[in-house]
Amino acid sequence: VSITRPRSSRPFSVVVAIDFGTTSSGYAFSFTQDPEAIHMMRRWEGGDPGVANQKTPTSLLLTPDKKFHSFGFMARDSYHDLDPEEARDWLYFEKFKMKIHSTTDLTMETELMAVNGSHVKAIEVFAHALRFFKEHALKELKDQSSSVLEKDEIRWVITVPAIWKPPAKQFMREAAYLATLVSPENPEQLLIALEPEAASIYCRKLRLHQVIDLSSRLILNGFDQETSSPLDSGDRYIVADCGGGTVDLTVHQIEQVQGTLKELYKASGGPYGAVGVDLAFEEMLCKIFGKDFIDNFKAKRPAAWVDLMIAFEARKRTAAPGRANAINISLPFSFIDFYKTHCGQSVETALRKSNVNFVKWSSQGMLRMTSEAMNELFQPTISKIVQHIGRCPQINQRSLKGRREIRASMQFGDTEIKVTAVDVLTSKSVRASIDFLSN
Ligand SMILES: Nc1ncnc2c1ncn2[C@@H]1O[C@H](COP(=O)(O)OP(=O)(O)OP(=O)(O)O)[C@@H](O)[C@H]1O
Ligand SMILES: [Mg+2]
Repeated sequence: VSITRPRSSRPFSVVVAIDFGTTSSGYAFSFTQDPEAIHMMRRWEGGDPGVANQKTPTSLLLTPDKKFHSFGFMARDSYHDLDPEEARDWLYFEKFKMKIHSTTDLTMETELMAVNGSHVKAIEVFAHALRFFKEHALKELKDQSSSVLEKDEIRWVITVPAIWKPPAKQFMREAAYLATLVSPENPEQLLIALEPEAASIYCRKLRLHQVIDLSSRLILNGFDQETSSPLDSGDRYIVADCGGGTVDLTVHQIEQVQGTLKELYKASGGPYGAVGVDLAFEEMLCKIFGKDFIDNFKAKRPAAWVDLMIAFEARKRTAAPGRANAINISLPFSFIDFYKTHCGQSVETALRKSNVNFVKWSSQGMLRMTSEAMNELFQPTISKIVQHIGRCPQINQRSLKGRREIRASMQFGDTEIKVTAVDVLTSKSVRASIDFLSN
C-alpha cells in the first residue's frame, strides 16, 4: 500500500483494511513503521467462545425507528432473542452485499429490504456497517498505540470484488464518506482495493516456514513439497477467492524474487459464491412447502426464518461429497406450527406428498437430508465455479511452457480442497491440498 500523499499533509501512520464480505466481514491493520506486522482482529463480541473468529457475520440490526442497534454476532444474537411479535418491527439485514452488484441502475437512492420487509437506503446500510468497523478499529488502535492517533493519520482500505463495476466502487466510497471514515476532501485517504489482488499479495507473502508449517497439517498451498522455495521468479499462479457472494480470480506472475507481481490476466469473477447453496436450500423448501407459504413465513416470522438459515449453515459446513451419512436440520417449532395453522396439514404430510426425493422427516422433528440431497444443493454453484476457472485464458493455453495441468477434485465441505497437480513437462505429480477459507 502506497503511503504517498499530498506534500502538505503528514504521512499516514497506520493502515486499516476492511474486508466487507457477503456473509462475514473483518479488518486488519498495520503501522507504517512496521508494515509487515499485520494485526488481524480476531476477537468479536458474541463470537462462539474458544474459537478464533477472524470475521463477524455481515449482519446489521436497526431498531424499529431505523437507528443502529448492533452489527455482527451481536446483531444476529440480539435479533434471535427478540420476542417474535417484536421482531417484526425490527430491521435485520444480512447477505446484502450482492445487491450492489446485481442492481443495474445502482444509485445513492437504491434501497435494501430488511428481513421484515421494510426498506432502507442501501447507502445507509453500508454506512452503518462501515461506521461500526471504524469505531471498532479506532478503539482497538487506541488500546494498541502509545501515542494518540489523529484521524488523518489513518489510511483506510476497503476491499471489493474484482467484478464490481465503477458505480459499485463509487457507491462503497460514498458509503465511507457517509460513515465519516474519511472526508470527501481527502479522497486519497481511502483506497478501494480488489479482493483477489489482496489475496494474491497475501499468497506471495507466504514465507517458506509458513508453507512448511501448513504442510505438517497437510495443507500445502498448492506447492510441491520437495522444492525448497514456494514461489520463484517467473512462476505464475492463479488465486481463486471463493467467497460467499463472488468467486474472483487473479492470474499473476512473479517478476523478481523480491517480489513485484505482473498481472497476466485482468481480475475476473462472477456471482458464484457459496450463498448459491443457501438459495438452493430455500428453493428446495419452496418445492416442498410451497413458495407462498415460505414467503408468508419469512414475512410473519422473520426471526425464525433467520434461525432456520443458521441451522442450515451449520450443517452446510459439515457436508462433504465423500460423506455417505444423512444430516438433520432442525426446523424451528414456529415453522412446524405456522405450517399446520396456515396449510391445514403437518410438515410431515407435506414432505410425504412432495416429489422432492432424498428429504425425509425424522421422528425428532427434523428435516433429514441424504448426502445426495446435500450434493444437489452444492452442484449448481460448484459447476459455475469450475466453468469459470476453465474459461480463464491462462488455463486454456495448452502449449504454455511450464504450465502445470491440475486435475482437481474439489471438496467443499470441511473447507479442505484437495487437488492433485501434475507438472506436464516433468510428468511429476505433486500432492497438495488447499484450505480456501482459513488460508
Ligand atoms: N466448510 C464449509 N463448507 C461449505 N461452505 C462453507 C464452509 N465454510 C464456509 N462456507 C461458506 O463460505 C461462505 C463464506 O465464505 P467467505 O467468508 O470467504 O465469504 P465472504 O467474504 O463473506 O463473501 P465475499 O468475499 O464473496 O463477499 C459462506 O457462504 C459459508 O456458508
Ligand atoms: Mg470475502
